[in-house]
Amino acid sequence: MAHETPGRAEDQTNHALTYLALSLGLVWLVKHLVSSRAPANIPPFPAKPYPIIGHLPYFKNGLKDQLTAWRKSTGEIFSVYFGPNLVVILGSHGVLHQAFVKRGDTLSDRPLSVAAASRGRDINRGIVFSSGRVWKEQRSVSLQILRSFGLGQNILAAKISEEVSMFLDSLSKLFGEPTDVRMLIKSMVANNLCSIVVGQRFEYNDERFLTLLHKMSEMFRLGQSSGMCTIFPWLSRLPGDLFNSRARFQVYQYILDQYCYHYIEKTKNEERDLTQDNFIFAYLQEMKKRQQQGQDTTLDEDNLALNVMNMFAAGTDTTSAAISWFMLAMLHYPDVQEKIFVEISEVVGLDRAVTMHDRAKLNYTQAAIMETQRFFVSPLGVPHKASKDTIINGYTIPAGTTVMACIHNIFHCQELWKDPDQYRPERFLDADGNISPPEFFTPFGIGRRVCPGESLAKMELFLVLASVIQRFELRPTTPDHLPTQKPEIGMIYFPQPYQIRFVERR
Ligand code: HEM
Repeated sequence: MAHETPGRAEDQTNHALTYLALSLGLVWLVKHLVSSRAPANIPPFPAKPYPIIGHLPYFKNGLKDQLTAWRKSTGEIFSVYFGPNLVVILGSHGVLHQAFVKRGDTLSDRPLSVAAASRGRDINRGIVFSSGRVWKEQRSVSLQILRSFGLGQNILAAKISEEVSMFLDSLSKLFGEPTDVRMLIKSMVANNLCSIVVGQRFEYNDERFLTLLHKMSEMFRLGQSSGMCTIFPWLSRLPGDLFNSRARFQVYQYILDQYCYHYIEKTKNEERDLTQDNFIFAYLQEMKKRQQQGQDTTLDEDNLALNVMNMFAAGTDTTSAAISWFMLAMLHYPDVQEKIFVEISEVVGLDRAVTMHDRAKLNYTQAAIMETQRFFVSPLGVPHKASKDTIINGYTIPAGTTVMACIHNIFHCQELWKDPDQYRPERFLDADGNISPPEFFTPFGIGRRVCPGESLAKMELFLVLASVIQRFELRPTTPDHLPTQKPEIGMIYFPQPYQIRFVERR
């Protein structure tokens, strides 16, 4: 009984919100139908948009093929409507460079994030979804810390190498049996971030660690359906949580409270010396320094918590996907696997672990990693937003417009790459066998928003993959029935679940 009154009041509020949302939707629809006119001089549309939902129905079979077809029919820059939101798609390295490098001053903000949409307000915090002054300071401090870890004795490489050896032991314990190792890969990648960010690694079967991985996956999964709320923010205020935006927000808040803030508190309360080598500690030191000097700073614990969350979210799936694709590629292209193994045996041998000092001499191995990132690239980059009207290729991109790179168009462009639909690591080597990636190979983005984890990710991909091939031969379960190379569709493309065997080379 005690709960009846608040429950009824909540119901009434929900109904009022539903009516309000539907009325606003109706007003918008009428307005759209009566005077549907796009802003002047924007990049061309490849097809007529539908009322309200814009071009979304064209993507019913996935983004990749439709965007490739429109790149061919409409050109290197075109406009689409994601619901009512105008989105400009950049489909060549030339326009991408113009937009994010030359006009990076006005095209480096972020649009409203999913997290913000589910909260119904903007949260200009952390690195990934922030803009302006907050973003600049958070990004520069985070980069400064990551760079300092990669210098000198290279703390990053030491932490990754320690994790790699645990990962190899886990693969060895599979005794060559067919296994889906995607979860193991994610655990290893997330653990690397735990050591770097929090200063602690976990056993792969640790309950707390497994809960974190589970919650992160859930957040991504719910993010797929709550993505509609980024396009139509009012959907998140409808009763029933049809698009999971509130469920996603709860998971998001759980990770923030139980992990990000928890480890900040733990770090603050621990007696530590100044040689501590984790991100949280280094950030808190810098924060204290700026505050003591009386600087007007955005460094605070809320931003730090979001930075920690951002690094996990931005660094786990991207890196895990690249590793999973590489292992799948080794099943499809055993000649490539053999060449990598021969190179590693000649340069490193089989008796000691691969280190970062070996990278400069393992050109073919590096080329195969790059080819994997090119060949299996996800179609769209992270959205940017125009802070002011900006001219690109003679077209106007109005302030507030979302701008996205279609990386797949660039990485599979016939004019840039010979046989783009063939997996061929040699394309990244020059005539002398030296590694020579072209400037249009930009898996980590370009311009002011370029991935701050690029060096870390490259280090990780190299150390993990070279070490795996040095120790194991990667074999399919049934050689005449290889797993598909078609992706599991999401913002980040993953291989569909597949079984693989890790057979010790000796
Ligand atoms: C193979 C692995 C990775 C790939 C392919 C990748 C790629 C990218 C791309 C394309 C962007 C967006 C650039 C743009 O907005 O134009 C980005 C942003 C970002 N990445 Fe990565 N990334 C990887 C790993 C990592 C790791 C390990 C970290 C952890 C430190 C990380 C942290 C971030 C952050 C914080 C941003 C947002 C930067 C900003 O908004 O200023 N990434 N990444």
